[in-house]
Amino acid sequence: MNNRTHLAAGAYETKGGFRILAIPGSLREASQNRGLLRAAREVAPPGVEIELFHLGRIPLYDGDVESQGYPEAVRELHEAIRRADALLVATPEYNGSIPGVLKNALDWASRPRSSSALRHKPVALMGASAGRSRTANAQAHLRGVFDHTGSPLLSEPRVLVSGASGAFDADGNLLDLDVREQVRELVQALVDWVRVRPLETAVAGVA
Ligand SMILES: Cc1cc2nc3c(=O)[nH]c(=O)nc-3n(C[C@H](O)[C@H](O)[C@H](O)COP(=O)(O)O)c2cc1C
Repeated sequence: MNNRTHLAAGAYETKGGFRILAIPGSLREASQNRGLLRAAREVAPPGVEIELFHLGRIPLYDGDVESQGYPEAVRELHEAIRRADALLVATPEYNGSIPGVLKNALDWASRPRSSSALRHKPVALMGASAGRSRTANAQAHLRGVFDHTGSPLLSEPRVLVSGASGAFDADGNLLDLDVREQVRELVQALVDWVRVRPLETAVAGVA
């Protein structure tokens, strides 16, 4: 974790600032969820850097491959997660749950279990989908996954976007100003929460 002590509220400009790894649950070029993450980068406060990760090169999880050594794309994912102060995941909903590409990447990221990059890594979620649930099911299932991986989750604010409501243009760029403000609030809440967590865990007596 970077040194962020003695900072005025809202500024994160010491020693490389605050780094968020943004992971979209869709590979599409015009993905609305990638659009949400681009918007997060645009509205992030000064000193907060958001790196977008593309899951397209992550192979299917295979224990035999793992036992031979991690593929390069998986090592890149592990390193990007370790470098980050927090993760921001934007997911669509597929058949009432998490898209396979995202679950597969999280399965790789959770390995090896004894020293997983996801362990203790703070996470915030958001999502856009065409259907009525607006990714409520996918986000609920992701919460279960991150519970398993030992990754603490920001509980609020929740950002659930209807992809069918004209919030995005055809290239997946976010147009809706209310949603943009929700995304800004989520990024700010994630940064503020991660800054106070060391104090919270110390008070609770957790190492
Ligand atoms: C295989 C598949 C299953 C889907 N299932 C759901 C679903 O259960 N609920 C829903 O709201 N949308 C569903 N959709 C629609 C996606 O949510 C929609 O395509 C979304 O915009 C994709 O996100 P993206 O723009 O980031 O690629 C499904 C799409 C696909 C391809």
